[in-house]
Amino acid sequence: MNSLQKLTELFDRLWADYSSINPQAHAIHELFEARGEKVLNDHVAFRTYNDSRINLESMAKAFKKYGYVEKDTYHFEEKKLLAKYYQHENASLPKVFISELLMENFSPDVQKDIKELVNQMDPKSVESDSFCTMGRPWKVDFETYDRLATASEYAGWMAAFGFRANHFTVDFNHLKTFKSLQELNELLKSKGFKLNASGGEIKGTPAECLEQSSTLAAQVDWEFSDGTHNIPACYYEFAKRHPMKNGELYPGFIAASADKIFESTDRVR
Ligand code: NI
Repeated sequence: MNSLQKLTELFDRLWADYSSINPQAHAIHELFEARGEKVLNDHVAFRTYNDSRINLESMAKAFKKYGYVEKDTYHFEEKKLLAKYYQHENASLPKVFISELLMENFSPDVQKDIKELVNQMDPKSVESDSFCTMGRPWKVDFETYDRLATASEYAGWMAAFGFRANHFTVDFNHLKTFKSLQELNELLKSKGFKLNASGGEIKGTPAECLEQSSTLAAQVDWEFSDGTHNIPACYYEFAKRHPMKNGELYPGFIAASADKIFESTDRVR
């Protein structure tokens, strides 16, 4: 298998897992295709903790091995996160956006909870190309999830869901039947999908060269070691890129917008 085949297979697996947990993404995808659209992805996003055994860099390894190149770094002061994005020279492949929780900024109890999750992992599994598709590799009870989510919604999501796509993002620029991101948002709302309105439904402006919107993660019944609970899972995002002064589409991200989009998996609405 060449790199493109490897990556295509990886993204197919990620989509199958993501769309099964997140039926709204599947439904929206179908809705677009029914309009005659071919849906391409702008980026696929992953989360992790910065424990050195499983941090951002270890997640990026497989992507780099198959040709992804590191582009830009973003800091999220308030949410205590760091993120990087990676791009492949083959423009048909989505960008990869990986963030990590900066554990040292949390209490010793939170750090201990996270370390105990990571301690359960087989260190070899991290070396595999399918690291980012392994799902949740640890047992976690609801109380630990709840404690982590109270300290950081991001930390809670990660404890419950582990290594899989946190979200896929539709490349608006390849859609043909919508005049604006707002029109797309209106269609989704008319079909009953809830959008993340934190900081406005559309984050970013044409002047900033990137507009983004996203659904709110749907609630799913999710299994913990001590029973099933209803919690927010994954969301679907939409990105419209605008040309920069040189005429090329802006390739990066906007920290202030991404900061609000992270909230799409929050429990409190
Ligand atoms: Ni995103």
